[in-house]
Amino acid sequence: MSAPPLQLTGISKGFPGVQALSDVQFDLRAGEVHALMGENGAGKSTLIKILCGAQPPDSGQILIDGAPVTIGSPVVAGKLGISPVHQELSLEPYLSIAENIYLGRQPLNRFGLIDRRQMHVAARKVLEELGVVLDPHAIVGRLSIAERQVVAIARAVSTRARFIIFDEPTSSLTRRESDLLMQMIRRLRDQGVGIIYISHRMEEIFDLCDRVTVLRDGRFVATRDVADITLDELVRMIVGRNIAAVAPRPQTEPGQVVLEVRGLSKRGLLKDISFDLHRGEILGLSGLVGAGRTELARALFGDIVPDSGKIRIDGAPVNSRTPRQAIAAGIGLVPEDRKEQGLVLAQSVMANIGMPQLGFLSRFGVIGARRERQLAERYVQDLAIRTPGVDQNVMYLSGGNQQRVVIAKWLATKPKILIVDEPTRGVDIGAKAELHMLLRDLAAGGMAILMISSDMPEVLSVSDRILVMHQGRIAGELPAANATQEAVMSFAMGLGSRG
Ligand SMILES: Nc1ncnc2c1ncn2[C@@H]1O[C@H](COP(=O)(O)OP(=O)(O)OP(=O)(O)O)[C@@H](O)[C@H]1O
Ligand SMILES: [Mg+2]
Repeated sequence: MSAPPLQLTGISKGFPGVQALSDVQFDLRAGEVHALMGENGAGKSTLIKILCGAQPPDSGQILIDGAPVTIGSPVVAGKLGISPVHQELSLEPYLSIAENIYLGRQPLNRFGLIDRRQMHVAARKVLEELGVVLDPHAIVGRLSIAERQVVAIARAVSTRARFIIFDEPTSSLTRRESDLLMQMIRRLRDQGVGIIYISHRMEEIFDLCDRVTVLRDGRFVATRDVADITLDELVRMIVGRNIAAVAPRPQTEPGQVVLEVRGLSKRGLLKDISFDLHRGEILGLSGLVGAGRTELARALFGDIVPDSGKIRIDGAPVNSRTPRQAIAAGIGLVPEDRKEQGLVLAQSVMANIGMPQLGFLSRFGVIGARRERQLAERYVQDLAIRTPGVDQNVMYLSGGNQQRVVIAKWLATKPKILIVDEPTRGVDIGAKAELHMLLRDLAAGGMAILMISSDMPEVLSVSDRILVMHQGRIAGELPAANATQEAVMSFAMGLGSRG
């Protein structure tokens, strides 16, 4: 048999206090989608960074077509045909789609100038190959997250890469957008591209992938054909144990109204939003991306000032015009975009967990350093945050563990009302179940929770009641006990209630 097109053997990589990878092996065939799975912090992104020349391994070998290579930089990786699809953040917002696709390697005309016409023609062709309709002249800054991701993929495709790597590409996409992405990936596979696909979403693995390699604690567990394994087996390989199914939601009487929202409007974003949130209740907020869910959360949190409408907490009117006022009124927000709004990456786990406290408690004096440490240590334990210690900088934690720090930070403020925006995005399957139980426990303890989520099973299984938004309005309300995926979707698409 001929050598695999891409092979990694004996890869190890350590960071101070963490052995991220130990003796890991991996191989990729042409024309396959190969899933890379593992819990948060298992070493997936680290392996990818090594493959893409962003970090050197401590030991191990990378072979292409059987020949050892040294991938000293991303440029070398590109020359070897290895192309990661970077998150949308790495695009230039002020440039057009075509300019972003060909950034740094624009086609030149015979005068040595950028041949804009040829660039647009080529960009259009790549987009067509991916099966998407986007104008190559459109400015990237005006695109949705999903469209930006298409641009990032088009960029990888346009280099005629042999190996394309996706590290959690669907974590910020809706179901519909993910389906489109799956189609694009299948097309690439059918053209013979080898694809590495990292995701925590099980359905995607079974839908899309040919083989799966599982890492646990930085070690290779196994590589298997997806057709030969069951979901339970895969979960066990990932977490090394069985996961208890989430217990059915206990039927509880809603407590008193904590949050009253009446007629909240903001031009172009929110239209006449009214609802109540009760003590001990988890209210799911569903809808398509762009329906205004995040905007509603930001309006409640004082991050967007509404044009009209009233908010009352425990019967008293609140006028939060800044997040600080919202925090003081008892509202916490775990935002959708962790990297931008939730964390200071260059600071420690402890500093991040203590951060909203500092602002809140400043009128009582400085929070004691010892208390801050104890608080952080408790949350690291409660939320099983994988870090060598509370002094570690957050930027060195894996994606899913950063997510847990954001949640810890808001729990530490002991809010009456906790708003969580896509709480389990990027969180591994074991931790997801734990986070759901944590939300339930918090509600059982009297907290009122507003949970925005695009993950339909999550909305249906965790909420007590579901609100569905469509184009800035509340399109419908459903008790979770007899809500179905179809009923929620029907409201989300503006079709109203079906029967
Ligand atoms: N530059 C770094 N410095 C210190 N530690 C690091 C660094 N990069 C990664 N780590 C650590 O290495 C381990 C593996 O991290 P990695 O990002 O590869 O995990 P992952 O499998 O991608 O997880 P997730 O699913 O959460 O994205 C983690 O414990 C992480 O904190
Ligand atoms: Mg990762």
